[in-house]
Parts: sequence; structure tokens; C-alpha cells
Amino acid sequence: MKTSFTLHQEELPRQWYNVLADLDRPLDPPLDPRTNEPLAPDALRALFPQACVEQEVATDRFVDIPEPVQEVYRRWRPTPLQRAVALEQALKTPARIYFKYEGASPTGSHKTNTAVAQAYYNAVEGTKNLTTETGAGQWGSALAFACGMFGLGCTVFMVRVSYDQKPYRRAMIRLFGADIIPSPSSRTQAGRGILAANPDSPGSLGIAISEAIEEAVHASGTKYSLGSVLNHVLLHQTVIGLETIQQLDLAGEWPDVVVGCVGGGSNFAGLILPMFGEAKAGRRSRPRFVAVEPRSCPTLTRGACRYDHGDTAKLTPLLKMHTLGADFVPPAIHAGGLRYHGMAPIVSRLVADGVIEPVAYDQVDVFESAVLFARTEGIIPAPETAHAVHAAVEVARRCAETDEAKAILIGFSGHGHFDMAAYEAALAGTLQRAT
Ligand SMILES: Cc1ncc(COP(=O)(O)O)c(C=O)c1O
Repeated sequence: MKTSFTLHQEELPRQWYNVLADLDRPLDPPLDPRTNEPLAPDALRALFPQACVEQEVATDRFVDIPEPVQEVYRRWRPTPLQRAVALEQALKTPARIYFKYEGASPTGSHKTNTAVAQAYYNAVEGTKNLTTETGAGQWGSALAFACGMFGLGCTVFMVRVSYDQKPYRRAMIRLFGADIIPSPSSRTQAGRGILAANPDSPGSLGIAISEAIEEAVHASGTKYSLGSVLNHVLLHQTVIGLETIQQLDLAGEWPDVVVGCVGGGSNFAGLILPMFGEAKAGRRSRPRFVAVEPRSCPTLTRGACRYDHGDTAKLTPLLKMHTLGADFVPPAIHAGGLRYHGMAPIVSRLVADGVIEPVAYDQVDVFESAVLFARTEGIIPAPETAHAVHAAVEVARRCAETDEAKAILIGFSGHGHFDMAAYEAALAGTLQRAT
């Protein structure tokens, strides 16, 4: 039986898909927090290159992927689509389970898809350095790699709890030539404020974003780069879904259910948005799109959809999104990349419209499924990805009960080779349940 569906290098998509062309009504605009009026797109120019600012609001259905970006993508893209037959057998399910494997990238996750694009656009516009935040370390290592490709310096504020949990992610970020600072730090006003209130703060993505933005605003030749949430980031990630559609054709399949984990929403959106576009154009049916989050950071399942800041120090514009509140500091779960209080406005809109179904799971159950996946398929999911794996296992188990042969597609956002401490805790039975 064929279990791997691979594309040739020349089949790499040459354009990204822009869902802004296909939404029923435009997104609510970002607001300037000082006036509560819509933010002029130019106000973002202090932080982002012009090309990304334009992509935030572009309404063309397809956007060309610049040739130098394609060239870097071709080092590992197109990534494989695989069928998890051994997992299906272990679950005794009639369901067919596929996964799109983004762990094949140089740093081990989908994050390189936008890191390379953002580093490129900054380099051609003359930026010298980028600052950013990282939770799990996947985004920080992706941006460090991408900055190296285009000759940019890079400073990464890494959430303290992940900095302590993941010494080898730290080493990888340094290996690719970036500076790394645990956050909260005494280097910024935002960090000093947090440390004064709580010297033992574990940090959060919201805090690290504040620090990275503050640094970018004050240093010359420096801009800021965000690894998720914003429209241009989701646009760059659509290369995942565009490849997957071609690969599903090779497999002669169209999924009934697509599952992906959501931190800020970028890998999940990158997978599902091109499928949403296909359904919108009337070419295919629309699958169930299931977004999976941790029970201890339940942004979509418990958060309100309202205007809020993207960071703790309230430096960012106000975005209309599901949020747990900009000062929410999530518990120190192992899926560091899912510890974010907010959500991509595009994902929030599609949840509000009933297109995306959110679900939350506890990390104890999530790791049980991840261990099963590793033992059957031989690939170790990142703790974030493990949330998607668990959702797929749940659907496949229900298929076994109801004898339904559904096709399930997993957005496999990254591997967990640097997450062995989390797996050791899972095997020792010492993982904490959310209260
Ligand atoms: C492997 C992996 N998957 C998922 C995520 C969550 O981010 P997003 O929702 O933007 O894909 C992260 C974030 O760090 C990650 O490292």
C-alpha cells in the first residue's frame, strides 16, 4: 500500500493563497490604542517591512512567492504527506489517517515558511537586525536560521520557562548566529516592570513580544518579526495547504476532518485556508476544520472575541480576536508554543462564523496519544503538534465505534526532538493536569 505522497521540487507552489479575498465580509481593522480609530497601515512600517505591511491588507487571491524565498524553500519543500497506517492498525479504526509533515524543515517545524519570507523582505528593504520572541524555541530557531540565510542579525527573547526547559533549542538559536535573552529580562522597560512585580515570573509569549517590540523600536536598523497571528504570517504558511491539496489528489483522497493545533493559529490556518478556498470556489466539499488548544490556555473555547492587545505591555495595536486577556500568564505546560493569550484574527473570524470548530485537551491525554504515535509511526511529535495528534486519535476512535471510514488529516507542525524532558515526564507519569 502506498503510504507516502511526495511532490517534486518543481511542484513547489509559486504563489501563496490569500483568504482575505474569500471572506464574506472584511476583517475588523486593527485599532490604534490611543484613539480607538482604525490604524493606518503605514503605522506598522516602524516594525515591519513594506511588503509585509501591504500583505496585511492585500485582497488579491494569490500572492507571488519571491524566487529567492522559493529557492530556500526548495531545500526541504515540498514536505511529505504520509498515511499513518500503523497508527490506524493500533487503533483498530476504519478511518484513514494522513499527516502533513512540517518537521522536515531545517529547524523542525512549519515556522521556517514565514521566517524565510520575512527575513527576505527585510533584507531587500535594508533592515540590518530583527528582534523576536519565542515560546517553544521553534520560532526563534526558525528566524535565526532565516536571518542567517539573508545576512541579518537576530535577537530572540525566549520565554523563561522554555529557556530553562530547552537548553538545546537555546544552543540551536545561538548556532545559527542569533543572540538569545530569557524573558522577562532586565534589558527592557517591559521586562523590568514584570520582574519588579514577580521576580520568579515564568514569562509568556505576551511578555516576550513586548520586549522584542521595545528593542526593535529603540535600536537603529532594527525591525520586529512575529511568528504567528498576523495576516501576512498566515499567508506565508498557506504553502502547506497548497502542497497538501496536490498530494491529496495523488492519494485520491479529500479529508472529512482536518485537525491542527493552535497557538496563534498559523500552522493550522496555513493548512486549512487553501481548502477553505477550494470549497468557496465550489471545487470541493468543505471538511470539518478542528482547531486544538491546551485546556490550560483555552483561547478559543473560553476566551471572548473582542479587541485586545497582542502583548502584555500593551505596545501592539488592538486586534479583534479571541483572547484570554493580554495579561493572562498561562501555566508552564510543555507545549510552550500554545501558551498565547490571543489568536489570529482570521482564525477568530472563522470560529465566529462556525467554519472552524475549537476543542481543548489536557496535556496528560495529549502526551498519551503522542507516545502512541511515536511508537507506531516512529516520528516524535512536538508537544504542540501532539495536541493535533490527540484530536485525530479521538476522531479515529469514534470512527471505530461507529464503523465510519472517515479520512482524517493532521497538520503535523513539528517534531519533538528537543522536547525529551516533556516525554520523560509523560513516561514517568509526572505531568500535571490542568485544574
Ligand atoms: C511545533 C509548533 N506547532 C505549533 C505552534 C503554534 O503556533 P501556530 O499556532 O502559530 O502554528 C508552535 C509555536 O511555537 C510550534 O512550535
